[in-house]
Amino acid sequence: MPAESVLGLQWGDEGKGKIVDLLAQKADYVVRYHGGNNAGHTVVVGSKKHFFHLIPCGIFHKNTKALISNGVIIDLEVLVREMDILLKEKLNLKNKLFISPRCHLILPYHKNLDAAYENARGRNKLGTTKRGIGPAYSDKVSYNGLRVYDLADWNDFTEKFTFQAKIKNKILKTFGVKPVNISVELKKLKKLRSRIMPFVKDTFEMINDAAAKRKRILFEGAHGIMLDLDWSPYPFATGSNTVVGSVNTGSGLAYRQLGNVIGIVKAFTSRVGGGPLPTELHGRLADAIRERGGEYGTTTGRARRIGWLDLEAVRFSCKINNVNELVITKLDILSGLLEIKVCTGYTLNGRKIHYSDCGYKELAKVKPVYKIFPGWIEDISGIRKFSKLPKECRDYLNFIGKFLGVKIKFVSVGAERNANVKF
Ligand code: GDP
Ligand code: IMO
Ligand code: MG
Repeated sequence: MPAESVLGLQWGDEGKGKIVDLLAQKADYVVRYHGGNNAGHTVVVGSKKHFFHLIPCGIFHKNTKALISNGVIIDLEVLVREMDILLKEKLNLKNKLFISPRCHLILPYHKNLDAAYENARGRNKLGTTKRGIGPAYSDKVSYNGLRVYDLADWNDFTEKFTFQAKIKNKILKTFGVKPVNISVELKKLKKLRSRIMPFVKDTFEMINDAAAKRKRILFEGAHGIMLDLDWSPYPFATGSNTVVGSVNTGSGLAYRQLGNVIGIVKAFTSRVGGGPLPTELHGRLADAIRERGGEYGTTTGRARRIGWLDLEAVRFSCKINNVNELVITKLDILSGLLEIKVCTGYTLNGRKIHYSDCGYKELAKVKPVYKIFPGWIEDISGIRKFSKLPKECRDYLNFIGKFLGVKIKFVSVGAERNANVKF
């Protein structure tokens, strides 16, 4: 099947950007199909780092077209900023980047509302990225959203935006927050609109034509399965469904057309923002892993929380997405540890409990059951063959593959595109 999807199987930041860029070398199309610029995906080519929030990774490859399909919500300012960075790098976006008219817009009042709700929640705040994700998706669901489609008719857009902004300003007022200046924002939006309109095209037809011609399509998942709107310990979620079903709803490709589902698993765990994290580490060990791994948010710069690999949670991710290939990332970061723990299950009040049985209150209380592996001292970042990895490292990988019942495609041992260990 020439259509494949890449999903993060944990709480985000698994290294999806690197892997999508790598796999996109052979892809005709790479598609972002859900989420917004709460995503931060990093691609390292040689000594150069590139950060993507909305534009699909893999756009650098000569023959790969980059599509933002209908499930994505777009902050025009962020998109245009990202386009400008690529244009500065002399990348011609014409006939390369395509944006669905069905994409909903993240508008200025959504960002203000996100921040206002977070501030009002006080000690119960969720730790959102404050990019307006929840409010923009809730407007979509309540038929109050504005889409890229609406930008085509400026008078109509002005009327709809003004109507929505007036209502949102009333809500912002109740929070004691400054309202948005409607005419100033409209001026900005008009300018941004002129930049993106040349790239607007029906991505549904493009994707389905490509599938019919057996072109290679790579779907770039954002966030992580543990942040899925339905399957997370709600409300510690993001605004979109991160499970593989979103490929269908967010791009229009029928699910039976999808082949490999490739799950990305970081060799340990990280999480940004609030919410339970059963295997969380604190103190010097967490700090050391964070520093070595550069575990700071690509979008917000926040320090990521760190934990041991949680295979109880990842097993759930494999099941719900029918993952058939794994890529393990950041294994190099674990070099030098005396021992490495892996969570193989949870107990609550002395009884076995599964990830899927837990609401956020239970998940905050579960006790991880650990299997302990001896560590390895060697720097493995220069190794390219599985047989050359230290025995302890191979044992760790073999256990993960066996426990999850999914074959490991390859292992990433560095941020750079080519730092990979083949099996
Ligand atoms: P994403 O959101 O899943 O695309 O991940 P992020 O880009 O937010 O965070 C992953 C970070 O780890 C980035 O800084 C990557 O450059 C880096 N990275 C990815 N894979 C590896 C790896 O195997 N080893 C190391 N050391 N860094 C990696
Ligand atoms: P990538 O694609 C890590 C988290 C936020 C917060 C929660 C809700 O880079 O892996 P939101 O702004 O989405 O309403 O915040 O979701 N979150 C992510 N954490 N990586 C991401 O994306 C994330 N996208 C959302 O930190 O806890
Ligand atoms: Mg990220």
